[in-house]
Amino acid sequence: MITTRAKDPEPDPNEWKDELCSAFTKASASQATLAVRVQDRLTTTFFIYNGPHNKPRRVARFALRRVNDAVILSCHLWIAPSLRGKGLSHAIDKARLAVARQMGCTTLIATVHTDNEIQLRAMRNRGWITAGTIPGVKAPWIYLMYRQITTTATTKSSRVDI
Ligand SMILES: CC(C)(COP(=O)(O)OP(=O)(O)OC[C@H]1O[C@@H](n2cnc3c(N)ncnc32)[C@H](O)[C@@H]1OP(=O)(O)O)[C@@H](O)C(=O)NCCC(=O)NCCS
Repeated sequence: MITTRAKDPEPDPNEWKDELCSAFTKASASQATLAVRVQDRLTTTFFIYNGPHNKPRRVARFALRRVNDAVILSCHLWIAPSLRGKGLSHAIDKARLAVARQMGCTTLIATVHTDNEIQLRAMRNRGWITAGTIPGVKAPWIYLMYRQITTTATTKSSRVDI
């Protein structure tokens, strides 16, 4: 018997994009906007732009790739060097959590280089857990991280508001 999965729920940026864009607008003193690109059946990439209307500058990117019904892989996170160190990784983490929840997932996973101290700190502060290093991957080693999606705050960070 052939079974098919119901169509994945579409993420609705309207629920979280204002908060995300306003964090970038505040940090850059220039209006930020969001662009969503569906890369393929499983992967969606989110871009944040700011700057002049006729020549917007890409200042951040993150992508989410569905692994199965319950799990989404977070990848390709990048913030422009000029906007780093302003807490924007937390704003993105909050947005990707919202997307994962909208898509009916219970867990986010990601890989992070073990020497990426800033990203590791940011993720651990927002409830991400290190599952372990991935064997056989050459240095710098890579941690596999996961983050469970709950409806109540589970981390010690005061920034968490989920
Ligand atoms: C990793 C990256 C996304 C972090 O984004 P960011 O907006 O600069 O990070 P934040 O400002 O939110 O800071 C995250 C944490 O690191 C700390 N931090 C930031 N810059 C720091 C620095 N230069 N030195 C020490 N700590 C720093 C912050 O205080 C914050 O800690 P907190 O959670 O206790 O508040 C960004 O640096 C980046 O795009 N790097 C290149 C691509 C990359 O590494 N992507 C991740 C792949 S897994």
